[in-house]
Amino acid sequence: MSSAEEIKSKLDIVEVLREYIQVKAAGANFQALCPFHREKSPSFVISPDKQIWHCFGCGKGGDVLSFVQEMEGLSFPDTLRLLAPKAGVVLKQENKEEYSRRARILDCLQAAAEQYQRWLESEENGKKMKAYLLKRGLSEKTIKEWQVGYGPESWGALTTALKAKGFKEEEIFAAGLAGRGERGSVYDRFRDRIVFPIRDANGAVIAFTARINPDKAETTPGGKYINSPQTEVYDKSRVLFALDRSKKAIKERDFAIVVEGQMDAIACHQHGFTNTVASSGTALTAEQLRLIKRFSNNIALSFDMDQAGQLAADRGIHEAMALDINIKIIVLPKQYKDPDDCLRANPEDFKQALINSQPMMEYYFSKVKADKDLRKLSDKKEVAKLMLAMISKLANKIDQDYWFQRLAESVGINEQALRESVIPVKTDKAPVRPVIKAEAKELPVESLSREDRLVEIVLALLLKSPDFIHYAASHLEPEDLEEESRQKFYRNLIIYYNKFAHLDYDSFRLYLQEQDDGTVNMIDRLALLGEKDYYNYDFNQIKAEITKILVEMKKFSLKRRIKLLQDKIASSEASGDEGMDILMTEMKNLTEQLNALQSL
Ligand code: UTP
Ligand code: MN
Repeated sequence: MSSAEEIKSKLDIVEVLREYIQVKAAGANFQALCPFHREKSPSFVISPDKQIWHCFGCGKGGDVLSFVQEMEGLSFPDTLRLLAPKAGVVLKQENKEEYSRRARILDCLQAAAEQYQRWLESEENGKKMKAYLLKRGLSEKTIKEWQVGYGPESWGALTTALKAKGFKEEEIFAAGLAGRGERGSVYDRFRDRIVFPIRDANGAVIAFTARINPDKAETTPGGKYINSPQTEVYDKSRVLFALDRSKKAIKERDFAIVVEGQMDAIACHQHGFTNTVASSGTALTAEQLRLIKRFSNNIALSFDMDQAGQLAADRGIHEAMALDINIKIIVLPKQYKDPDDCLRANPEDFKQALINSQPMMEYYFSKVKADKDLRKLSDKKEVAKLMLAMISKLANKIDQDYWFQRLAESVGINEQALRESVIPVKTDKAPVRPVIKAEAKELPVESLSREDRLVEIVLALLLKSPDFIHYAASHLEPEDLEEESRQKFYRNLIIYYNKFAHLDYDSFRLYLQEQDDGTVNMIDRLALLGEKDYYNYDFNQIKAEITKILVEMKKFSLKRRIKLLQDKIASSEASGDEGMDILMTEMKNLTEQLNALQSL
């Protein structure tokens, strides 16, 4: 077995896909909104027993490997490398050429994390930093689990250590661990700082953030925190700190706590709020929000939100609104600077603040009204202006409606006037991951002709309920189908079934592959089509559906043959050919058959 096959066999496709999309059970299968194109109702189907997926909207389909590869934008070897640990598979020693640059850089970052971690224990200053972290309330266990480390006060200690491990200067630089001086020599980026690894959603170290030595003034060049630069493996707008550790809890509790600082996130986790991620001090980007949306549609923000005005734009709240994410605001008691501060002083306060968190619009509304006098026209207008700007950003019409009413009531301005003063904004700005380059190539099923669609359905139903194959074969011949690939598929199905008297999906698949006529490419789609639209049909319903469609197919076929015959008769008449009798008899025969069907 190849590594790819082994990995596939050990992974559960549904469990893996759940990390990327929200899936819902539908009979024996699962459905989801397709992540590869924009849609409102699910046409993405996953079959756990067949270990395949297919989208009937855009036509994409495949197995767990192709899905992850596409979602992550990785090469095939890197996809295997990513999934191998999840599957508990140890990849055979990959040869150097196949070992991608990305893999080298990730290894380099992991080695750096381990080295920093050792320095926190061994370096003189490292020990001081560790004492500081403990004093700040982090436990030994937390420090270890998060791989908190220390970068010593040296221009080359890390580079030297990594080179000794076989990494090239260029790789260390590309990993963002070193800068380059004027003469091209490299120097360590994080010096005399506490270093926190930043991991992607899969747990791979892709960057670092480094806090200044607290004994030093916070005015040291570079600021309190410095971060890795953008690199080939790190795009800061697409990463949420701690998502790898929190995604499970976010799904289970169905909301994510979003804080600003790394220290806040770590403290939250240590206190049991394991569904916490950190935005790392910047506004939430649409990509980050989409990452959260994989696991839940609800977020609770604990951001410093003192000035209402610009806050929403500054924090990425507008992006969240556009994605129709439900946002709540956690308001900490005034005496606390941030969640870390609060948790250290009194975890109960944080818990209460979370329980009391307010829906973002409510919070915003009360902020906007706070210092206004709603008897004054100028203040009314000011409140209306701020609120309307926000209302227009709501992606959901029902929410919008509600807020127009609320606003009209509380400022005493006619609702219609408020509505009219808003310029409609487009809210459906491609909620698709930008990674998606290729648009759907295959024709969507919806654009098939009625006849072709019916054939697809009947084939799908026969795959689902092979007991009807005999019945179908005796009422509809492969030649009755107009389109060649479906005709071949149908013929293969009948031959296979006649031979084995039952249908085993995997061996039928192999059989199709051996035919080498392209029909193997149809089987997954057809199988999933049956599961998608007919998963809850019982025996009798399927029978009724098949019978009905077969009659209709036969009619299509007869009409086609009659048309052909008419043309033939016409040209025979013109040329005075013999054999007119035979043609006429056949015509009579076909017409009778059609009439019989039509009178059914
Ligand atoms: P804060 O200044 O609130 O820091 O910045 P903090 O998290 O409370 O830090 P501690 O508790 O003193 O250790 C919040 C976040 O903003 C980013 C960091 O991600 C930080 O966690 N930040 C802040 C920077 O990137 N650079 C800075 O200079 C400051
Ligand atoms: Mn803090």
